[in-house]
Amino acid sequence: MIRLARPQIGQEEIKEVSKVLGSGFLVQGKNVEKFETKVAEYLKVKYAIAVSSGTAALHLSLMALGIKEGDEVILPDFTFPATGNVVALVGAKPILVDIDLKTYNIDPTKIEENITPQTKAVIPVHEFGQAADIDSILAIAGKYDLSTIEDAACALGAESKGRKCGTLGDIGCFSFHPRKAITTGEGGMVVTNSKQLAEKARALRNHGMAIKEGRNSFEYAGFNYRMTDFQGAMGWIQIKKLDEIIEKRRALASSYNALLKDLKEIQTPFEKAGNKHIYQSYVVLLNKQIKRDNIIRKLRERGIETTIGTYCLHCQPFYRKNYSYRDGQFKNSSTAFKQSLCLPLHIKLKPVDARKVKDLLLKTICMGM
Ligand SMILES: Cc1ncc(COP(=O)(O)O)c(C=O)c1O
Repeated sequence: MIRLARPQIGQEEIKEVSKVLGSGFLVQGKNVEKFETKVAEYLKVKYAIAVSSGTAALHLSLMALGIKEGDEVILPDFTFPATGNVVALVGAKPILVDIDLKTYNIDPTKIEENITPQTKAVIPVHEFGQAADIDSILAIAGKYDLSTIEDAACALGAESKGRKCGTLGDIGCFSFHPRKAITTGEGGMVVTNSKQLAEKARALRNHGMAIKEGRNSFEYAGFNYRMTDFQGAMGWIQIKKLDEIIEKRRALASSYNALLKDLKEIQTPFEKAGNKHIYQSYVVLLNKQIKRDNIIRKLRERGIETTIGTYCLHCQPFYRKNYSYRDGQFKNSSTAFKQSLCLPLHIKLKPVDARKVKDLLLKTICMGM
């Protein structure tokens, strides 16, 4: 089977994780702290707060910013549901906006028409590892005094004009799920340059607790969103390899682009000028005549694991039931949801595998049309 994704776990991770397991100190400790320091250094941000998942990072960010019931938060319709779910979880309303079908990112020209006196924040998602149009989004956020939470779950190391995704808004969120460029099994990180937001997120991660005059003081009704120390050990080792992994992923994406460029049934990923795409997912868009789900099934039968790009939120029962979104309301997002196809991409993928993916994809498309 040519796998969709494969985490890169080496001997060093196994050795350090074993050390932590042997030590008996399993919960958040010095390895988590070391991972946080390495992430902060890599991104050149003041504060990094490790948490149990990317979803936890987003949830804490909204809470740290004080987003609450009655507020509205703008986000792209085409994203993993966690982006919108956390908005609902704090009692605010997710305001969905269509995407640009070339980049799969929120269309900034459609943001302003959705701003109301209740709008408090915008969550650009750097979808599949490519920066959203962050300058336009920050300009709108500045004009209407909105907070910006970057959902950089898929985009650690991605750049816009040389600036790292996740460091450009008020707060940035990352995921270390095994399909991401580096992994801690499950895991996430909140990053910010604001001392106040960092302190609140740090307290909320640990039951709302802060240290006041040398004592534990419960300042908020918080969560247990801590990362374990053996995950922290994986994290600080993994991040040392990140740039090398990104270069390999970019090279593989170029090989796919070259192999697929003449297939008129497929739109290959588009890297916008000034962006450094890290290809957390290599996602192509199939022509409307092609039945994408059949392609996924037939490729699996032929030993190739593929999947959909991601979800359109307005098509999901929760969003329809609770916010009256209607089927097909966002044209580009609906098209991407139906026609996007994510191909295998991981650093163990060989050129011969990429060629096999292309050959079988072409064969499957021709047979299915
Ligand atoms: C855009 C986006 N946001 C948030 C998440 C949630 O991250 P996690 O699975 O670590 O909770 C994901 C997960 O894939 C994602 O793709």
